[in-house]
Amino acid sequence: MIDNKASFAEMEKDIAWVLADEETLKAKVAEMGREITDYYLSHPVKKKLLVVGILKGSVVFMSDLIRQIGLPLQLEFMKVSSYGHGTKSTGVIEIKLAIEDEILEDADVLVVEDILDSGNTLAKVMEYLKHKGAASVRLCTLLDKPDRRKADIKVDFEGIIIPDEFVVGYGLDFAEKYRNLPYVGVLKPEVYE
Ligand code: IMP
Ligand code: MG
Repeated sequence: MIDNKASFAEMEKDIAWVLADEETLKAKVAEMGREITDYYLSHPVKKKLLVVGILKGSVVFMSDLIRQIGLPLQLEFMKVSSYGHGTKSTGVIEIKLAIEDEILEDADVLVVEDILDSGNTLAKVMEYLKHKGAASVRLCTLLDKPDRRKADIKVDFEGIIIPDEFVVGYGLDFAEKYRNLPYVGVLKPEVYE
C-alpha cells in the first residue's frame, strides 16, 4: 500500500503553523451553512438560489458548504485572474470564465470565495453579477484579511478573520500547490520570498 502520509509531509514541511485545523473548519462551515439557510428562509428567493464559486480556491470550501445549506440551489463557477504566481494582488483583474446571461437573470446569487484580501477581485465580480441582472448578490467568504482591504466591499457571511499572513490549504494555493492540505496553514515566508 502507498503511504500517502509521506506525500503530505512533503507539503507540511513548508507550513509554519496551523491557523484552522480540520475540526475548526468543519464547525465553522456548519455554522455558516445554518446562517445562510436562515437568511434565505427569511428573504425568500425570487427564482432560484445560485451559488457561484470562484475557481479554483473556493472549491473545497464550497463542496463542504453546500451540503450545509438546506435549500434547493444551483451551482455555477466563475474564474477570475488576479494573482499570477506571486503572493500579492496585481490589481489587474480579468474574467476568464463567465456565467451565461440566462442563468444569471433574476437569480439570487451567493458568491463563495476562499479568502478576501484586498477585495479588488470580489468587488469586480459583484459588480459584474449585478450588471448581468441578478436579483440579489450576497458574498460569503471562508477567510478574511481585513487589514489588507482596499476595495469597498460588504461581506454578508464571514468565516474566520485572519492576520496578514499568506495561508494555504483547504483549497488555497501558492503557485497551484497545497490546495489538498485538509487544514489552513501559514506558509513559511522562505517558500515564497
Ligand atoms: P484580492 O483581490 O486581493 O481580495 O485577492 C483575492 C484572491 O487572492 C483570493 O481569491 C485568493 O485566490 C488570493 N489570495 C489572497 N490571499 C491569499 C492567501 O493568503 N493565500 C492564498 N491565496 C490568497
Ligand atoms: Mg483564488
